[in-house]
Parts: sequence; C-alpha cells; structure tokens
Amino acid sequence: MVSAVQKTKWLGKSWQFLECVGSTQDVAKEWVLSGAPHGAIVVADMQTHGRGRVGRSWFSPPGKNLYFTAALQLPHSHPPLGTLSLLVGVAVAEALRKFDAKVFVKWANDVVSESGRKLAGILIEGFESVPQKVWALVGVGINVNLAENEFPDDLKPTATSLKIICGRELDRFEVLAEVLCSLEFWWEKWAGNEIALLLQAYERLDWLRGKRVRAILPNGAMIEGIAQGITADGELRLILPDGTEQRLVAGDVSVREAVS
Ligand code: BTN
Repeated sequence: MVSAVQKTKWLGKSWQFLECVGSTQDVAKEWVLSGAPHGAIVVADMQTHGRGRVGRSWFSPPGKNLYFTAALQLPHSHPPLGTLSLLVGVAVAEALRKFDAKVFVKWANDVVSESGRKLAGILIEGFESVPQKVWALVGVGINVNLAENEFPDDLKPTATSLKIICGRELDRFEVLAEVLCSLEFWWEKWAGNEIALLLQAYERLDWLRGKRVRAILPNGAMIEGIAQGITADGELRLILPDGTEQRLVAGDVSVREAVS
C-alpha cells in the first residue's frame, strides 16, 4: 500500500488501508468529520455494504479488486459539478490504459471495455463538514483480478475485469498508484477551472459517441437518440430521430445498436 501513494504530490498522503469495512464512503466521511485533510484516502480489501449509484450495491469480495474513497474539498469556485464525475472517469480510464487495457468512459460514471462491459464504477457523494467547507467523497471500485466465473450470475453478462481484458493478473497497488496520479492531475486541472483539456480527453475516450442509445428521463419518459458527446456542463447530447437535440443532466443510458 505504501508504494501506491509515493508517486503523488498530495493525494493519498494521508491514508487508511482496512481489511474489511461496510463502505469506504462511510469511513471517509467519519474521518473528514474528525479532521481528515483534503486528499485523504480510505482503501479497503473488501466491503460488506459496497454502494453503487441509485441505491445499487457494489460487488466487493476480498483479495481481488480495488475499493477506495478520496476525500476532496471543493474549491470555492469550480467548474459545473456535472463535470466532476467525468473528471474521475477520465482519470480512471487513462490510468488503466497504462496497463494496455483498452477501456473507455461511458457517460456519466462508468469505465467500460470495448464491448461495453463495465469494469469500474464511480460514486460521488457531497456533504458540508462545517459551513462553507464542502467535500466530495469520490468512491471508485475497479474489478482488477476477478475471473469470469467469480462474478455473481446477475453481473456475468455485463461486467468485466482488468485481468479478463489484459489476459494477466495485475498488482492492485500498482493500479492504485496510477489511478491516484491520474486523479491528482485531473483534479488540479478541474479545480483550476481548466476544463477544456478535460473535455478533449473525454472526447477521446467517449464510448457512447455515435451509438444509438435509450434513456429514461426524470419524468419517466423513454427516449432514443444518437449520442453526440457532452456539453461543457457535462450533459449528454442526444440527437433525436426528428433531428432535435435533447440534453441529459443525469441518469443511465443503454445502447441499442452501434451506428458508426
Ligand atoms: C456505480 O457504478 O454504481 C458506482 C460504484 C462505486 C463503488 C465504489 S467502491 C469504493 C466506494 N465505496 C462504496 O461503497 N462505493 C464506492
């Protein structure tokens, strides 16, 4: 674990590695409330109540994967919050590409293989520790060394791991070291309001671009359109069959078929 935090300047310099937690998100929040500094990270070998987005759980068995939460204090002025999850997706995808894994970002919060199977998930939870001190708890789960038969049946059709993609086992802490370096780099750009570079990087890694996708709107309506990248606020641009553009602020999209 020590080697994983040696390449960064400030991210992960305060860290905890725990054998078993409910969720690293909860441990990180408690730690912030009792004085953890900006950039502190909580890493766990396993989670008993790993959380995903929208009330889902995150499969968190021991000895195989990475589960961590970084506690990051938001600067007073920052780009639109919708771009924060894009930042983390780009950071994780670029780090995993260092291991020759051909991975992509899938709006809004997923890192996927070329065939669209998910290998990493990102959960961002915000809270205010004292007035005017707003934190983002950036939780990242990466399937590192799981073999296909080690996924539960419900995940088998849609999930993958670095081991499956790369055809070899990887050192979890080497992966963590790269992810932390990349996250630190992109956080500094984001916090400095240098968003243009991030949007370019996102475009290079955008798995949805040009694909026909289906999305459920907050009012329950279902729409289909062709994904056309994102806006500077991090919204997904969809071109509908009548040629109009619909922008999605949040949500899950599924791919119908590739059109380009
Ligand atoms: C998702 O894709 O739904 C987000 C998954 C996020 C999982 C990570 S694992 C580390 C951190 N602790 C949690 O309980 N969740 C996040």
